[in-house]
Amino acid sequence: MTDNEVQRGLEDVIALESQICFIDGKKGRLLYRGYDIRDLAQYSTFEEVAYLLWNGRLPTADQREALRARLGELRTLPEPVMRIVSEMPQGGNAMDVLRTAVSALGAFTPAETGAASTSVASAERLTAILPAIIGQLHRARQGLPPVAPMTGGSHAAWILHAIRGTPATDLEIRSMDAALILHADHDLNASTFAARVTASTLSDIYSAITSAIGALKGPLHGGANERAMELLEEIGTLDRVEEVVRSKLAHHERIMGFGHRVYKVEDPRATIMREWSRRIGEAKGNLHYYELLRKEEQVVFAEKKLYPNVDLYSGSIYALLDIPKYLFTPIFAASRVSGWTAHVLEEYQDLRLIRPTSRYVGPTDVPYVSIEKRS
Ligand code: CMC
Repeated sequence: MTDNEVQRGLEDVIALESQICFIDGKKGRLLYRGYDIRDLAQYSTFEEVAYLLWNGRLPTADQREALRARLGELRTLPEPVMRIVSEMPQGGNAMDVLRTAVSALGAFTPAETGAASTSVASAERLTAILPAIIGQLHRARQGLPPVAPMTGGSHAAWILHAIRGTPATDLEIRSMDAALILHADHDLNASTFAARVTASTLSDIYSAITSAIGALKGPLHGGANERAMELLEEIGTLDRVEEVVRSKLAHHERIMGFGHRVYKVEDPRATIMREWSRRIGEAKGNLHYYELLRKEEQVVFAEKKLYPNVDLYSGSIYALLDIPKYLFTPIFAASRVSGWTAHVLEEYQDLRLIRPTSRYVGPTDVPYVSIEKRS
């Protein structure tokens, strides 16, 4: 790269140093604080992973239980925020509600506004509360009564309970837990970068997470999981996969859940999500989505040599957990908030205002024309 060359989309630009997440895009490896995502997804819980991201080490059993208990105590939405969530337009994008609610939470938590007063406790509070917002927005939309916060149980169980209002099975909780672990962090993705840019101005953690939610909403980022499910609905039956996918590619449409800026091989998260899609499908006696997605993978690879990313299979798991499509991206946020907050804390510790420059390509020396003489 020469001095004057523009890296569109900041592709391959190393913007900062971080100790949180490592992606090997050529080998398809993903590490959180040095630990392989495959081990974490198989042997750990989301709470352990969140602790790891925030503190740099895995917790002991006591530390994990203490974190679980603290998260359990932080699940109550302040009454004014509850009202804001309930009164937002019911038919709109759920990420708008989530973004607005987190922004409002910041206004109701003035003691935490500012880098100096931000700590792991702020990260825990934000992480614990997101399912309460998601549950309330869903229940208001369905005309259902609010669900009282669970005081015990894991983050995964809390998300399922906040949305459905009924206890989940062990397998349902375990599949949600795996999905949360796999979405928890991913280096300088667009939403994490947005959070760090905001934090780098010495703004508060609520503003940083509000920025991140706005970025995650986009269909090229977290919003892809909802679009991937829309495509499955459009396809409908196995015999239509080839025709529909080929036609979309022929019209230069993007197939959501495929391709990645960093991975040149299969996204390791997709490998694990695929397996969970099969497991939960078998347990529920419904492999419809799994089979459609397997076929879709074959067609997209044959046509474009593209691999699936984390967003391809997540929707199939959530749908089998009776979660409506409009909550798929908010659930992504309920996991990624752990990574966002870890990055905000890291940014505050080694702060440098993030302020790149652009190469100006507009006109110069334009003669000024007074308003009366403009046509
Ligand atoms: N479907 C069809 N074509 C694709 C796709 C896709 N999903 N992804 C990339 N391509 C094609 C693209 O059209 C281009 O082709 P050509 O060179 O002929 O114009 C080529 O591949 C390179 O695409 P690009 O946009 O320059 O590559 P990128 O590094 O900017 O793309 C991406 C990364 C994620 C934006 C892109 O793969 C995409 O749009 N995927 C679909 C959306 C998606 O699944 N997003 C979730 C990403 S993972 C989770 C997350 O971070 O939120």
